[in-house]
Amino acid sequence: MYCHEIPGFPGAFHYPGFLTQSAQHDMSVQIIKIIQQAPLFVSYMPRTGVPMSVRMTNCGPLGWMSDKTLGYRYVSAHPETLRPWPAIPSHLLEIWDELTRYPKPPEACLVNVYNLDAKMALHQDRDEIDLAAPILSLSLGYDCRFRLGGQKRNDPSETFVLSSGDALVLKGPARRCFHGVDRILPTIGSELASPLADFGVRLNLTLRRVNE
Ligand code: SIN
Ligand code: FE2
Repeated sequence: MYCHEIPGFPGAFHYPGFLTQSAQHDMSVQIIKIIQQAPLFVSYMPRTGVPMSVRMTNCGPLGWMSDKTLGYRYVSAHPETLRPWPAIPSHLLEIWDELTRYPKPPEACLVNVYNLDAKMALHQDRDEIDLAAPILSLSLGYDCRFRLGGQKRNDPSETFVLSSGDALVLKGPARRCFHGVDRILPTIGSELASPLADFGVRLNLTLRRVNE
């Protein structure tokens, strides 16, 4: 398993091609099943109510969402079906153990679905109580241009490509780094076979520990 720490960003570890093509396929099938149980929904920016361009759902005991009045938060049920989120697939729990070595399991897996025109503005992940736990992200489908900055919004930032099958771990000082998705690229670095290619999307899974 190849991994490198991103130069200039201590604690940010990139694992290009972490998931094999068949693991990407299996993971995609599992995520499609999760979306069937917990349909994609849109979150809205706090206060302004501007809709985000990604569509999202979650699995795990907790899920992340945001709306105009209550803002960013973790909730234990889907905002529309009001049902509990589906369980986190066991393979994802194993990857969390392998790549984070954190002693507690993740409580939330946010599934972000990006169409070609979707992006995610620069932000910090700080809605969790446990800010010591790493963040683990896995990407599937289309490539994206990912931006990583420092702990302050105006710190210098750099971009790099995240491709299908890549894992990214943000821990230590990188746990609080600003990050975002500048744009989705209409390329699939690792030639991911169906089923995700058929949907023309990038899919990102972010696993987080929420409570201490
Ligand atoms: C996020 O920061 O929630 C998503 C990052 C990504 O899509 O790679
Ligand atoms: Fe984030």
